[in-house]
Amino acid sequence: MQNFDFYNPTRIVFGQGRIAELATLVPATARVLILFGGESARKTGTLAEVRTALGAREVFEFGGIEPNPSYETLMRAVEQVKRDRIDFLLAVGGGSVIDGTKFVAAAALFEGDATAILFNFGRNITQAMPFGTVLTLPATGSEMNDGGVVTIKAQGAKLPFLNHALFPVFSVLDPTKTYTLPQRQLANGVVDAFVHVMEQYLTYSVDAHVQDRFAEGLLLTLIEHGPTAIASTDYKARANLMWVATLALNGLIGAGVPQDWASHMIGHELTAKYDIDHARTLAVVLPAMLQVRREGKRGKLLQYAERVWQITTGSEDERIDAAIAKTRAFFESLELPTHLSAYDIGAEAIPAILAQLKAHGMLAIGERKDVTLDVSEQVLEACL
Ligand code: NZQ
Ligand code: ZN
Repeated sequence: MQNFDFYNPTRIVFGQGRIAELATLVPATARVLILFGGESARKTGTLAEVRTALGAREVFEFGGIEPNPSYETLMRAVEQVKRDRIDFLLAVGGGSVIDGTKFVAAAALFEGDATAILFNFGRNITQAMPFGTVLTLPATGSEMNDGGVVTIKAQGAKLPFLNHALFPVFSVLDPTKTYTLPQRQLANGVVDAFVHVMEQYLTYSVDAHVQDRFAEGLLLTLIEHGPTAIASTDYKARANLMWVATLALNGLIGAGVPQDWASHMIGHELTAKYDIDHARTLAVVLPAMLQVRREGKRGKLLQYAERVWQITTGSEDERIDAAIAKTRAFFESLELPTHLSAYDIGAEAIPAILAQLKAHGMLAIGERKDVTLDVSEQVLEACL
């Protein structure tokens, strides 16, 4: 196992009916800005529930944070924070709203041009406003981590940022808040969480047996209960999906192990250029990534085949092929396509995606930093 620090200060408030506890979770004298997305928070009644729980506090609203939140929209929220002398942010929504709130929390206290936060991947953040979240879409893990992804629309750049100042103070996870989600978003959530686990698990062994078993448990739970959670409003399935998605990216399974994230970096470029949902880019890229990089990942692919898909017969290469095929079939069964052709994207698109990767410094990514532009090109060809 590699040396590691594990730090996660976010309080999780989990279960049905817990939104009422915002009454005590948010500081009593706070001037609160509630940040939300399009219309879902208002239509579902969650916004009203939140406002009721906040009682007599001074509460302001900022709506309109779009999926794949944009720098341009978020800077308007930063202006409002300053104008209304806000001192506590409350995100009500999915990963986009939470990521956007993290950016606002940092940008409101940042000296100078806030795009610098994104171009430095958040390393130059020294302070951030306190914020909490009410999660309405289980997928990203943003509710219990210190990262986010924001798009600078003017530049077509979707950039990740990360900083210890960006952990939510608390996150309220009420599984019944997922009941209004369209099946497409639920399926996206299952796949995003699945790929988060894979980015941290499917690298090479460092004898981190606890992390491996946790990761395999999360994958098995997604395979077993993901389809039920998508198909019905069964509380048990939704509660498990919500907690799996949080644990998939809260630092626990990634502590002390090498991490990949190359599928995510290529996926972000696909979203920036073609506006494909985040999880849908991953469903295309991950199987291709595993195929192209199978030598470097051989040991873990065989372990994944056996422990997650119960594949125990055949040669090593046959077992690896079968595990990748099972992964692809799982995503397809949830109605996420695994080829770019489903989006009418062909080989002519590859040079532009490679140019974006280059422009964003993604020249040596993956757990061994050996995913060069040449390797990314092979992966993109395998995505077609
Ligand atoms: O905008 P509204 O009207 O609220 O509708 C949203 C949105 O259209 C809707 N929705 C959310 N909760 C709902 C609901 N509709 C009905 N009922 C509810 N309860 O769902 C749509 C998608 O929401 P979004 O927040 O965009 O989805 P998701 O949670 O999948 O977030 C995706 C974003 O997170 C980033 C992605 O890149 C993408 O920008 N990620 C963040 C990560 C992190 N911070 O750690 C890691 C991930 O890898 C990911 O990159
Ligand atoms: Zn993701």
